Amino acid sequence: MNKLVCISGCSRGLGRALAVEFSVRGWHVAGAARNSEALDQLKQFLATDHYLQTVDVTNPAQVDTFSSEVIDKLGCPDLLVNNAGIINGNAKIVDVSPEEFSQVLSTNLGGIHNMIRSFLPAMGGNGKGVIVNFSSYWGKSAAPEVGPYCASKWGVEGLTQSLAQEIPPGLSAVALNPGIINTDMLRSCFGEQAASYETPDTWAVKAADCLIGLGPSDNGETIIP
Ligand SMILES: NC(=O)c1ccc[n+]([C@@H]2O[C@H](COP(=O)([O-])OP(=O)(O)OC[C@H]3O[C@@H](n4cnc5c(N)ncnc54)[C@H](OP(=O)(O)O)[C@@H]3O)[C@@H](O)[C@H]2O)c1
Repeated sequence: MNKLVCISGCSRGLGRALAVEFSVRGWHVAGAARNSEALDQLKQFLATDHYLQTVDVTNPAQVDTFSSEVIDKLGCPDLLVNNAGIINGNAKIVDVSPEEFSQVLSTNLGGIHNMIRSFLPAMGGNGKGVIVNFSSYWGKSAAPEVGPYCASKWGVEGLTQSLAQEIPPGLSAVALNPGIINTDMLRSCFGEQAASYETPDTWAVKAADCLIGLGPSDNGETIIP
């Protein structure tokens, strides 16, 4: 039977590349992002059963509806990939507006909380599954002008550690530091230097190898593909 991966933030970047890679490997794919046009385009690249929905992960009601529909149409995820994220525009903390600070935290951290609240009960009932929360090198280190992003990713590490201690038997939760990959997000903070880093497509091959191999013995770890 085909396994199911559910990926938040699959309209571009790492999430999109993972959706395509998992479909190539025969997995069913559920995915969420805000850009419906990009999701429609992605459908052409998915050969297996899939369900892509316009969802803002900061909106708990939308995430609840999405999870019910995924479980109804495709079943309970074997792998829940909490990838959706944003970065603040490069700026010193003192110059970041409260609105932008709040948006980074509510997307990168609150979005993961919403996904866990909506999917974990069914996954726990199934007695198996892996939850992967996207962190960063900046989940354990820091740099100037990306303070809100660093705060959110350190938060992802803490949230994952706590979740790992609560998670039902048979399941596991890991933080994943993807490395440094040339996406819209990297271009936002690295500018032209981003072009010297690997592409999402090559990254997705090794990331999928790594994710498929995760199990209960990895619970609480931070993984780097
Ligand atoms: N690229 C890197 O080098 C790098 C390094 C370390 C960590 N990461 C982490 O890896 C993950 C993916 O990053 P990326 O580089 O692929 O970034 P990206 O190219 O900017 O893509 C971000 C994805 O997140 C989605 N997203 C953002 N806000 C959302 C929301 N409120 N609701 C639903 N979806 C939302 C975006 O879709 P919509 O705009 O359509 O909603 C998009 O699909 C992030 O968590 C990032 O922090 C990346």
